[in-house]
Amino acid sequence: MSSAPVIELTSLSKTFGSTIAVDDLDWSGGLGVIGLLGPNGAGKSTLLRMLATVLAQDGGAIKVFGLDPADADDRLAIRRRLGYLPQEAGLYRNFTAFDLVDYVAVLKEITDRPTRRAEVRRVLDDVGMTDDMHRRIRTLSGGMQRRVALAAALLGRPDLLVLDEPSAGLDPDQRLRLRTVLSEIGRRATVLLSTHQTEEVAAFCQRVLVLDHGRLLFDGSPRDLANRAVGRVWISEQPDTDALRSWVTGDGDIRNIGVPPAAADVVEPTLDDGYLLVATDEAAGT
Ligand SMILES: Nc1ncnc2c1ncn2[C@@H]1O[C@H](COP(=O)(O)OP(=O)(O)OP(=O)(O)O)[C@@H](O)[C@H]1O
Ligand SMILES: [Mg+2]
Repeated sequence: MSSAPVIELTSLSKTFGSTIAVDDLDWSGGLGVIGLLGPNGAGKSTLLRMLATVLAQDGGAIKVFGLDPADADDRLAIRRRLGYLPQEAGLYRNFTAFDLVDYVAVLKEITDRPTRRAEVRRVLDDVGMTDDMHRRIRTLSGGMQRRVALAAALLGRPDLLVLDEPSAGLDPDQRLRLRTVLSEIGRRATVLLSTHQTEEVAAFCQRVLVLDHGRLLFDGSPRDLANRAVGRVWISEQPDTDALRSWVTGDGDIRNIGVPPAAADVVEPTLDDGYLLVATDEAAGT
């Protein structure tokens, strides 16, 4: 997709004590829905927090809309065009869903009251919370609370949405709704989301990144990631000791990735296979 980069990262690094959370990252991206995959502790949230201007880097540079989050004026300008859903969103539990999102809308400087209330209703509707919007946060289920936080991130139609595991805790119906909403937004904005759901990435992301140990192991289309595993996935009745990884499928077969033995029953790879191969190859140091 051709467009000016919305995000530009140059030698970006972040360290916590002796942990290198983000390691010398170079990357740029523009319009569309971009999925960020990686194991627990890979550095996804750290990267997203830096992009959302809530955490400063230790090394390298970040540009968002060509602006520098380290500069106070630039940071404010970025925040005005940004929606962010943290992995753990702290919500005022005694507010109703409507009042909470309305409060965030005030902070986002949507000052005209009728405009603001219409916008609050729009984003609550986007996340399927219209019927429950006057309930207090503390009485909502975990998935509903998550959707309220997501609604707040959608306020004001941001040019950049940074979403840390937006579908975590959502039921299948709400996941589908989320995909539809984010795909629509991705036509005119940049949506960068982290997830552990490879099928989600396959379903609606145009681009996928795989991060591990703070480094980018893959950057390309979901199809390219699946294609990484072409000729490297096979089915067997017993776990194959030569495989990099083997696991039991729902059918009771063993699915293996790695270098298949001669006469192996090689099958079409999924995105999951591609992801596991990329992540495991790295761990194996190949
Ligand atoms: N505030 C912090 N203080 C110390 N270490 C931290 C802090 N935040 C993150 N880390 C460490 O940085 C590394 C990356 O963490 P991060 O939360 O970015 O991973 P993640 O990819 O989001 O993982 P998950 O899938 O579990 O959400 C981990 O080793 C983590 O322990
Ligand atoms: Mg995280």
